[in-house]
This record gives sequence, structure tokens and C-alpha cells, in this order.
Amino acid sequence: MMAPFPGGMRVADAPQPRPRRPLENPVTTPRTTDELQAMAAAHVWGHFSKLVPEDTGGIVVMDHGDDCYVWDHAGKRYLDGLAGLFTVQVGHGRPELAAAAAEQANKLAYFPLWTYAHPSAIELSARLAALAPGDLNRVFLTTGGGEAVESAWKLARQYFRLIGQPSRYKVISRYLAYHGSSMGALAITGLPGIKTPFEPMVPGGVKVPNTNHYRPEVCPAWPEPCSLACADAIEEAILAEGPETVAAVFLEPVQNSGGCFTPPDGYFARVREICDRYGVLLVSDEVICAFGRLGDWFGSSRLGYQPDMITMAKGLTSGYSPLGGVMISDRIAAPFLEQEETFLHGITFGGHPVSCAVALANLDVIEREDLTGRVREHEGEFRAALDDLRDLPIVGDVRGMGYFYGVELVKDQATRETFTGDEAEHLLRGVLSPRLVELGLICRADDRGDPVIQLSPPLTAGPEHFEEIAGVLRTALVEATEVVAR
Ligand SMILES: Cc1ncc(COP(=O)(O)O)c(C=O)c1O
Repeated sequence: MMAPFPGGMRVADAPQPRPRRPLENPVTTPRTTDELQAMAAAHVWGHFSKLVPEDTGGIVVMDHGDDCYVWDHAGKRYLDGLAGLFTVQVGHGRPELAAAAAEQANKLAYFPLWTYAHPSAIELSARLAALAPGDLNRVFLTTGGGEAVESAWKLARQYFRLIGQPSRYKVISRYLAYHGSSMGALAITGLPGIKTPFEPMVPGGVKVPNTNHYRPEVCPAWPEPCSLACADAIEEAILAEGPETVAAVFLEPVQNSGGCFTPPDGYFARVREICDRYGVLLVSDEVICAFGRLGDWFGSSRLGYQPDMITMAKGLTSGYSPLGGVMISDRIAAPFLEQEETFLHGITFGGHPVSCAVALANLDVIEREDLTGRVREHEGEFRAALDDLRDLPIVGDVRGMGYFYGVELVKDQATRETFTGDEAEHLLRGVLSPRLVELGLICRADDRGDPVIQLSPPLTAGPEHFEEIAGVLRTALVEATEVVAR
């Protein structure tokens, strides 16, 4: 008989875990806001941000949050109309998410998913598989959305090699769409302005029209009823490139960049048909659109289509800890199982135990408080509050769904004339962004396509928050209209 412990130790002699220390608050150095701003200007290199000269400081230093509000270090309160960055679904300051992180860190702070697993990643993967549409039963965990997109592209490429179609490597995605900033994800991203400095791109990124139905020039059928020409453009691109070279189509359920472009009825059914006809994988990039943002667990479920993979991040943990991932269908996993092949890809912190524990606690909150149902219940009121702004001549369009809307700003409401690049820059960065911050609203004034203001509050927001958002927007837009008219 084998000894139960090495060297025949008795149970009492076996190594025991160290007693856990009680949790303590971390000690932080007390500093003034001015000091922090000066240090930020000297040392913090912000993402997609200009470097600020040290003597001008001035960056908003965000300090703490509670539900739909955040406070900066100087004590000013803001309504978080963007959920951080389309992320904080359950609202700020949830003690149960912080407790889940602390408990997991205290128990097993880190172990990789390279040849090992840990209970929080296992539980989370099984739970996501049960929530996802169809047979997306496998989860490859990353630390964020760009890595998820990058991982999905690599997985698609290795999958096609395994099934004997090694020439399939290209990816089709839409103009203006943002899919991440690492080199692979950047090749899928459709924003020339953020790609040029890093050229040459990873080869294989092919772009097709998006579903902007406010600007009829991208829709040849207009003003006739929609012919789904934007979906058919995907077929044309596949044929132009050669179907034997195309691996996947990457689409968001509702495209963020450009301002919340919703798909026309029948768009995804047509895209699914096209992908099946040419043996191309359909990847639903739900880094923003999952976990209640559109009123269901996944955007593809709300819109009724079945992807081969889903990429996700942001709302998966509500931002309380970084995590992303790819959900993968049984069909894609099959050759890896049958041929006993390894997906040759890994990330040290992918599926970090603390982040997985936080994600589980986050999913608990979304489920317990039925936040997906809450979004469906209140999305009409949110939209109506924004639609009320249409009486302002600067408001051209209001579009989106769930808790995810864009308000497009125009020079002329009747003709839909947009602003020139310089005018948009002045309007958004010179006038609106600073004024909205001053008025205490966090939202996004963006000009990656035509100028839009984007809103995506925590899913706990309700009518009183929509009213506050619309009130602040009205004040800022009335003032901006006067500035633009001068
Ligand atoms: C649709 C989509 N995909 C990918 C990404 C990249 O995610 P991350 O910033 O976590 O790398 C984003 C980020 O906003 C996104 O919106």
C-alpha cells in the first residue's frame, strides 16, 4: 500500500497552509490634487492621449465611485455616462466584487492556465458556456479585448491549417470599426488614422462598408427599402479576395466606432448565410456588446444570430479586474481534440484567478438584479430622453440600442451636412469635451467617423440618470451651437 504522505508522515505532520493574515487597507501616500496632477504629467503616459507638459498638469484624477457616479480627487462629482469605458456594468463601488478579489488573492493569487487550471477559471468557463448561444462551449481566457481579438484570429488560422485549408488567413471587418490596438488586432481595426504610424500592417485585413444608415452614400439602395447591400458587400469582398484565402469575418453586434451603428433587419442572417456559403468563420466581437449592454447576456443573442466565436472583455468583470476571452464553437475545437493539437498561443495573466473570481461575482450581480431585463425595460426611456434633443439644430441623429447610444452632431440638420475635420476637432475637443466634464458628465465626444457623443452608462442607471444626461447634453449642445455659429 502507498504511504498517504511522502516519507510516511502522519496527517498531523503534513505541511499545512500558512494561517491567512487578516485583510488590511493598503497604505497610500496622502497627496494634494496638484501634486498628483504634476506627477501624472511627469510620469504617466496616457492611452490614446497627448503627453501633457509638466507645468500645465490639469488631468482629471479620478478617485472613487459609487453606482453611476464617480468623484475626482478634488471632490467633484460626475455622472459616469460611459461606465468608465463601456465597462462598469454593475456600477462602481460594489463591495462583493472587491471581496471576491481579496478572497481569491488571499487563497491563490496567481497560477497560469498553461497546462494547469484553477477553480475560478473552470467555474467561469463552464458558466459562460451555459450562457452563450449555441455550442460555444470552450473559453480561451485573455486579459482584455484586443488580446481576445488577436487570439481569435490566430485560432482561426491554426484551425484552417488543421483542417487542410492553410491558405485561409485573411479577415474581413468594417470601415471605422475598432477591434484593438496590438498589431494583429490593429490590422482588423478599420480606422486608418490610428494605423498609419505603425505601417506596414500585418497582412490580411480587408475592409467592407459598415451599417451607417444615416449617411445614405454607403447604402446604394437609399431611398429605396434596405437591400442589405452592406451585408452583400461581405460576399463581394470574399469573392474579390478569393474564398480560399478568407478565414473569418469580425463584426460587432452594434458597431461602436463611428457612433453606435445598429444593423438593419436581416443583416446578420444574411452575413451568416454568406459565411456558410464560403466556409468562412463568423466572429462576433462583443467586447462592448455583451453582459447586458444590449439587454441580453450576449449581443448576438439579442440580435438572434449564431457566431462561431465571440470575443469579450470589459463588462465580463465590470472592470473590477482585467479579463477578456474568446468563446469557441465545438466545430472549431474538434480538430484540436481529434488531432491532439495544441493551440500555440498563451498569455501569462490570461484567465488570472483573481479576475475570474471577480467575473463570477459580477455575473452573480447581473443575474441576481436582472440587469439584462432592466436594460430591456428602460432602453426606450433612455432613447426617448436622447431623442428629445432632436429639436436642437446641431443634433442630426440618435442611434443605438440597449444602454448604448450615439448622438451625431451636424452643421445642418436638413441636409445632414457634417463638420470639416478642423471644425469637428474644435467642436469636440476644444468646446464640448471640456464643457461636459465641467458640467459633471462623463461621456465620449468622438470623431473617428462623423462627430458623435456616445453614451453607455452602468446598467443600474434609470430614468433619473437619463434625465440628468439629457439635461447636461442640452446645456452643452446649446452653447456649442452658438460657438459654431460665430
Ligand atoms: C469591439 C472592441 N474590440 C476590441 C477592443 C479592444 O479591447 P481592449 O481595449 O480591452 O484591448 C475594444 C475596445 O474598446 C472594442 O470596443
